[in-house]
Amino acid sequence: MGALSASFYNPLPVTFAVRVAPRLCPSDRPLRVTDTSTPALYRSLSADDMAAVDQVIHQRLSSRIALVNQISHYIVQAGGKRVRPMLLLLIARALGCDSTERHELAAVVEFIHTATLLHDDVVDESDLRRGRKTANAMFGNAASVLVGDFLYSRAFQMMVSTNRLRVMAVLAEATNVIAEGEVLQLMNMHDPDISVDDYLRVIEYKTAKLFEASARLGAVISDASPEVEEACAGYGRTVGTAFQLIDDLLDYEGTTAELGKNIGDDLREGKPTLPLLVAMQRGTPAQRELIRHAIEHGEVEKMPEIVAIVRDTGALEATREAAREQVQRAQAHLALLPDTPWRQALLQLSFDSIGRSN
Ligand code: IPE
Ligand code: IPE
Ligand code: MG
Ligand code: MG
Repeated sequence: MGALSASFYNPLPVTFAVRVAPRLCPSDRPLRVTDTSTPALYRSLSADDMAAVDQVIHQRLSSRIALVNQISHYIVQAGGKRVRPMLLLLIARALGCDSTERHELAAVVEFIHTATLLHDDVVDESDLRRGRKTANAMFGNAASVLVGDFLYSRAFQMMVSTNRLRVMAVLAEATNVIAEGEVLQLMNMHDPDISVDDYLRVIEYKTAKLFEASARLGAVISDASPEVEEACAGYGRTVGTAFQLIDDLLDYEGTTAELGKNIGDDLREGKPTLPLLVAMQRGTPAQRELIRHAIEHGEVEKMPEIVAIVRDTGALEATREAAREQVQRAQAHLALLPDTPWRQALLQLSFDSIGRSN
């Protein structure tokens, strides 16, 4: 468990610490991380593909409207981990696909993701993203929402160019479900009485669905069998769920400097995420009441007390454990893919979605 640099692919020379998860698979499991000394296998194996995707992204960002260019370049140049395109590319390569449409589609999923971030930061009233002021803080809410729409629709123009109905169906479904997830989350805001299942449904919709679609598309463009396609989709869904669980954990455990996002935004927004739900279940009546009140009123000033409660009740560890369970499921899905270095990279990527600190 050491501090390593740049775990996820990032085209920018940004260094960040990543704690590599310990081996999580029992020895009787079919897949194991065999070489933890090369934590960035997924990065090195996808480096050329990711460079090609970066080119597509920059080519396709262009618009006739100056403000669209300005805002879209502003958020894209800030980097981002590009996990979703990496998933798509690694799965495509694991299944033997070498068609260049993989680059176009990887850029499509990154555009959809970027559009959701532009919208999400408006809804969440966030002012820090990727270590910079958010687009809404720089250019205003209206411009952010509209450029988000531009990126969504540009992504749809690009996916149509692949001329594959199935690709369009997968992405149309995913974007629709993401929107439902964000609305569902809005309905749950400031509600301390939601269940863990309600919470899991939100993260499945708003986050896991795009991971699922990215992974599924890697299989679709490889003309994989229905069984393998479902395994890939399951891998994406479970990694995406783990990824969001850790995102929610990092809002209480991480640092603003490493995350590039403001710690405490979730509490300020009154988001009942798993660390708080578990802390309420396990805490004393007084602790429970403090958290309930903070969720209802978005009391970010209670952050120090709440961090202490989520830590002392084991709620952070429970959240991490929930993410580990998802990764174990991801691992089982991967068993259906052929044994290649790309599958090993996918396995490693799933572990790093837990060990990450940004
Ligand atoms: C942020 O996604 C939104 C979540 C689903 C947690 P990422 O953590 O992938 O954001 P970037 O693209 O790396 O900035
Ligand atoms: C993920 O939720 C948002 C999307 C899937 C668009 P969050 O609101 O937790 O994401 P961050 O923390 O702002 O990146
Ligand atoms: Mg947000
Ligand atoms: Mg978050």
